[in-house]
Amino acid sequence: MRPARVLPQAQLFVCTNSRAASDPLTSGCGATGPAVFDAARALVNAQGRLRTHWVTRTGCLGQCPRTGCAVALWPSGEQWIEADTNDVAAMVARLCLTAPNRGEP
Ligand code: FES
Repeated sequence: MRPARVLPQAQLFVCTNSRAASDPLTSGCGATGPAVFDAARALVNAQGRLRTHWVTRTGCLGQCPRTGCAVALWPSGEQWIEADTNDVAAMVARLCLTAPNRGEP
């Protein structure tokens, strides 16, 4: 392994994991996550920050909320549950606020 050459200043991970109806770990992530991901990415793109502030689909974050989805923020380590598209503006604001200053654009 070797260090990645391209790193974001901050990264939002949106769980889009779908579970089978028979799975005892029922989760809303598969139903809600894709719309949250699309809205968050569109908002970051509208701000012209996609190159430095990444929005990424991810699998299970271990939170598995029954409604909404789970979202994690790096590097702050915050995680949210029961998130939906109404929360995207607040999450993107946190994404942009928590970015460390690495002296990059
Ligand atoms: S399925 Fe989304 S956190 Fe577990």
